[in-house]
Amino acid sequence: MCGIVGYIGTKAASGILLEGLRKLEYRGYDSAGIATILDDQIHCVRAKGKLNNLQEKLDGEDNPAPLGIGHTRWATHGKPEEYNAHPHRDTEGRIAVVQNGIIENYRELREQLKAKGCEFRSQTDTETIPHLISQKLIAIKANPPNNKTAEASLLLEAVRQAVNELQGAFAIAVISADFPDELIVARQQAPLVIGFGQGEYYCASDTPAIVAYTRAVLPLENGEIARMTRMGVEVYNFEGIRQRKTPRTLNWNPVMVEKQGFRHYMLKEIYEQPGVVRTCLETYLVPDWTPELGISPIRLGIPDEFYADINQIQIVSCGTSWHASLVGKYLLEQLAQLPTAVQYASEFRYSPPPMIPNNLLIGVTQSGETADTLAALEMDKKRRKDETGPLRSRLLGITNRAESTLGELVDRVIDTQAGIEIGVAATKTFVAQLMAFYFLSLDLSYRRKTMTIEAIEKMIDGLRQLPAQVESVLESQERYIEELAHDFVDTQDFIFLGRGINFPIALEGALKLKEISYIHAEGYPAGEMKHGPIALLDSKVPVVTIAMPGPVFEKVLSNAQEARARDARLIGITPMDEVEAAETFDTLIPVPHVDEILSPIVTVIPMQLLSYHIAARRGLDVDQPRNLAKSVTVE
Ligand code: F6R
Repeated sequence: MCGIVGYIGTKAASGILLEGLRKLEYRGYDSAGIATILDDQIHCVRAKGKLNNLQEKLDGEDNPAPLGIGHTRWATHGKPEEYNAHPHRDTEGRIAVVQNGIIENYRELREQLKAKGCEFRSQTDTETIPHLISQKLIAIKANPPNNKTAEASLLLEAVRQAVNELQGAFAIAVISADFPDELIVARQQAPLVIGFGQGEYYCASDTPAIVAYTRAVLPLENGEIARMTRMGVEVYNFEGIRQRKTPRTLNWNPVMVEKQGFRHYMLKEIYEQPGVVRTCLETYLVPDWTPELGISPIRLGIPDEFYADINQIQIVSCGTSWHASLVGKYLLEQLAQLPTAVQYASEFRYSPPPMIPNNLLIGVTQSGETADTLAALEMDKKRRKDETGPLRSRLLGITNRAESTLGELVDRVIDTQAGIEIGVAATKTFVAQLMAFYFLSLDLSYRRKTMTIEAIEKMIDGLRQLPAQVESVLESQERYIEELAHDFVDTQDFIFLGRGINFPIALEGALKLKEISYIHAEGYPAGEMKHGPIALLDSKVPVVTIAMPGPVFEKVLSNAQEARARDARLIGITPMDEVEAAETFDTLIPVPHVDEILSPIVTVIPMQLLSYHIAARRGLDVDQPRNLAKSVTVE
């Protein structure tokens, strides 16, 4: 939620900041702004709405300032108006701050600062920060403390003292017209990465903003503050103790964050899915595995002792990751025979189940930064912290960003290897999460001996077919679905049905449609329709049904017929041939014959394409749907 960037070097900062913000716009697009230091003054330009509005304001400005900060906002405190846009300044306009996160004690701070004469001009929590830093600076100048941070810089010391008074989750970047050669950043529970160039340094909420300039990065840890100058970067903890840090090299390239000829990132990411599945297979399947090797065919790097004694699994996640978790539950229960509960992370934290012995808690989050998911995991870790036996904390993360906060929090990570996802609606990261659950379930099944070797081999063979099967759906169906989307441009309600392992895919189909086309949609287990939702059906409500051959195939077809009898237009996602399907469905979206248990990887593709093309036909901003942000770092 919200993206921040900063630059200090020798080049003009504003273009670099703007480009960085463009790569972070997925984090929020209610307003944007940048601040630089020009002629000894803070020069701040802000605009309501998307980044293009800011760009228009900046066009024609000749601003050579080599230091600056920028922000793209997802509104939490205060309306999405220009006066609430970051950067925010202190009363004298000498300090500018951008923030990602929420300052929970901002009300008390605001009252205290107002009482000291600070003038507030916005409704935001962030505005307390420049005022607080300004007050700290006044006190420090009057009576300089004798410590390392004050020795390094009074601005650094003022920011350090200020962040020690802030409660909540935040990442900030600060500049001051009185300290024109430094950029101060701090992190507490919200992501912030520093990029290292030659005599120039960058900071950002996320690496895509800086990968065009450098691949040497240092993610700050919670409770760390850094002073960036043209000479280098010094990192301290909030107590002011210097931390020794070494940047690491990203294995990304700038092309990965471009659209590469696709109209939208979402479509590009849909098309990347065969490659994502292939990468997962290459990464996690033991090459040339044979049963005689006597090792698991899956190489997740999780040692036996980590999960040898577990007898139950809980999964916490949100949104699309929650749907992947429901597929995970199905696999873990059916293959590894482990009772599994899936909870919304936002519910788990405040009504946690009792502490269960021999439990594995899995957090699933593509960004690794979702506040609800992190909070749920932290809560469980905290309540088990003194336990060493069966009640001990045992956390596994499934994420696309192993370097994220989640990565630091959990004991083990499965990295879903999907590459950066820019479209706000998750597509390839969802498929990669499903792959992670196939691997985890197979690894557990092998170790727990809940599947025969033959069954494991058969499943691995099936997994290896998936990239080609996904490719064939994309090749054969995209054009057709694009045409089909035409029929639904004015549709107001959709129903998605699936059963068993495809029920979560029906939920995912409905969520995708809601998110990007703003059409009301509901996903249901097909058998549940008759218990109420069937009342919604008439000729204006299309019903998309996933029907894959398996134990409930006939039942799904009967459920679909019940909908058709109510005049609903029935769209089938099924491998049935045209003749058979004609008896059941009005419209057929054929998919290859895939074992039902593996079919979610294939059946989700038409769902993604359908929602994409309906939204595109409606002329909507597919990559940046209204009110949403890619990384939800507030609870
Ligand atoms: C849907 C979507 C959201 C996210 C949810 C969790 O397309 O993107 O529903 O799935 O906000 O995000 P992560 O996976 O980053 O925890």
